[in-house]
Amino acid sequence: MIRIAPSILSADFSKLAFELKKVEAAGADLIHVDIMDGHFVPNITIGPVVVKYIRKATSLPLDVHLMIENPAKYIDAFVKAGSDMITVHIETVTIKELAAIAKGLKKSRVKLGISLNPGTPLAKIIKALPLVDFVLVMSVNPGFGGQDFIPSALNKIRSLRLIFKKDIAVDGGINNFTAKLVVGAGASVLAAGSYIFGAKNTRKAINSLRKAPRR
Ligand code: DX5
Ligand code: ZN
Repeated sequence: MIRIAPSILSADFSKLAFELKKVEAAGADLIHVDIMDGHFVPNITIGPVVVKYIRKATSLPLDVHLMIENPAKYIDAFVKAGSDMITVHIETVTIKELAAIAKGLKKSRVKLGISLNPGTPLAKIIKALPLVDFVLVMSVNPGFGGQDFIPSALNKIRSLRLIFKKDIAVDGGINNFTAKLVVGAGASVLAAGSYIFGAKNTRKAINSLRKAPRR
């Protein structure tokens, strides 16, 4: 089963509750929430204060993608705000820090994901794999919505699929065409921002991503 996670980075933030209801009604499985600090990535978005209200505005699980330096410092705040899944970047943590984060999240029953940038080799996350519930493969350099899919993500997904049995999520440049490629390579969760929020028919857009044939 392919799960679709609309990224609210491409939503109209002045009417977030409406946007959340819209994708929920159109069949979204998760809400992908992009947290950016202006340090790890060249853009700034929202923090736990806003996530708390997003939590109240939807019943879908919140998939919180931390693109921030020193994520360990902020994990508790994002758990309290109502995250169901939290992803940290391998570029921002040591294995020791990740193990501590994993321990804390297990207690809170929040799923942990590890993400890696397009320029980070798969070898960098090998030690992290036993600690996490899923991997989020970046198929754009994080920071902005609406960028083009970077094809080298496909080989990464294929190689990872051979050694990792849990969910592989993909984030960046996902549309009806690239969805088929990443699902064919072994991905099971698709985060998509501009393709879903830019669509005239939200339900059609979500269905077209979900229909990507499984490998
Ligand atoms: C990129 C974010 C993505 C982004 C995807 O830094 O992590 O989640 O919202 O946007 P699209 O689907 O437009 O590439
Ligand atoms: Zn994201």
